[in-house]
Amino acid sequence: MVIARYPPPWFSVAPMMEWTDNHYRTMARLISKHAWLYTEMIAAETIVYQKGNLDRFLAFSPEQHPIVLQIGGNNLENIAKATQLANPYGYDEINFNCGCPSPKVAGHGCFGVRLMLDPKFVAEAMSVIAANTDVPVSVKCRIGVEDHDSYNELCDFIYKVSSQSPTKHFIIHSRKALLNGISPAENRTIPPLKYEYYYALVRDFPHLRFTINGGINTVDEVNAAIKEGAHGVMVGRSAYHNPWNLLGHVDSAIYGEPPSNLTRRQVLEKYQVYGDSVLGKYGQRPNVREVIRPLLGLFHAEPGNSRWKRKADAAFMHCTTIKSFFEETLFTIPDCVLDSPVAEAPSGCTDMFTKSKNLLPQQYRVREEELLYADF
Ligand SMILES: Cc1cc2nc3c(=O)[nH]c(=O)nc-3n(C[C@H](O)[C@H](O)[C@H](O)COP(=O)(O)O)c2cc1C
Repeated sequence: MVIARYPPPWFSVAPMMEWTDNHYRTMARLISKHAWLYTEMIAAETIVYQKGNLDRFLAFSPEQHPIVLQIGGNNLENIAKATQLANPYGYDEINFNCGCPSPKVAGHGCFGVRLMLDPKFVAEAMSVIAANTDVPVSVKCRIGVEDHDSYNELCDFIYKVSSQSPTKHFIIHSRKALLNGISPAENRTIPPLKYEYYYALVRDFPHLRFTINGGINTVDEVNAAIKEGAHGVMVGRSAYHNPWNLLGHVDSAIYGEPPSNLTRRQVLEKYQVYGDSVLGKYGQRPNVREVIRPLLGLFHAEPGNSRWKRKADAAFMHCTTIKSFFEETLFTIPDCVLDSPVAEAPSGCTDMFTKSKNLLPQQYRVREEELLYADF
């Protein structure tokens, strides 16, 4: 019998470029022991070309488990090599990016969400990744691209990738991507969320595992999505902008485990040891500003927060250690904020998933799949 090493990914923190770096993940793990953490997307080419410098991109501390590496790319050889090079680092899953709409990635790069238009390639890439690693593999995608946004087209993608590769887990950012004219940030707000596509996938592919993503902001909402049948929930921006109030409830409210009970002062004390040990590890980088950046959401909506951020801006100009940065700035946050455990979870909107389940598209029909496969 295989015993799972970690609780299932009922809750995960989304991959976010320049946000979910080692520093952020170190802070996140101090707040939640059970959340699954994703790296930022790393292009396969970066891993291959930085072969002599891999720790900088791939190393992480053992506390960060369970952790998933997200890679991106469109060159099978580089994807294979990148997976081989990442293997010794011991990630718990390898995820392939089929959702990024940024012009650099989906435009010139021709990967990210553009790959949703080429499921055959994605299946090949996933087979190559799986052949070069011994951990599970997954795909993160949108529900469509441009006017390829029908539920049937999404199903064709899922069907082809899952039947032609070992992929059994898909993370569904439940809005489509537009490739021209809007920025990556607008691509996370303008196309409407369609959770009904997600729940229809859960219905139509019962042998696969799906994680829902997009616009989910509180543990109440996470639990509501799970109650309606989601296998897992991934949260991005809220976990970055308001880590204390979100991640602080994950272990108890989602996993039913005791919370860490650390106060923010204790989190910062532990983080300081980490921060001062990594400063300047790669020449000038990381600097104090980079190490402190993930903490800037820690006092979201608390008294003293704006003043702390102003002090932080000034302190970045001359502080050379995390210890001196805290000494110079933290007096702006009241003791009652620093020393209290996480407060009651903010409530969220919990009927949004029930409503979506009333809007499910028609069931995906096998006959259409067979017709499509006549071409192969
Ligand atoms: C700053 C930023 C960077 C992102 N980078 C990535 C990335 O590297 N890979 C990826 O699959 N998605 C990336 N995303 C998308 C998120 O993973 C997530 O799908 C999206 O933010 C929707 O979830 P949310 O509404 O909970 O934020 C990024 C999002 C943000 C805000």
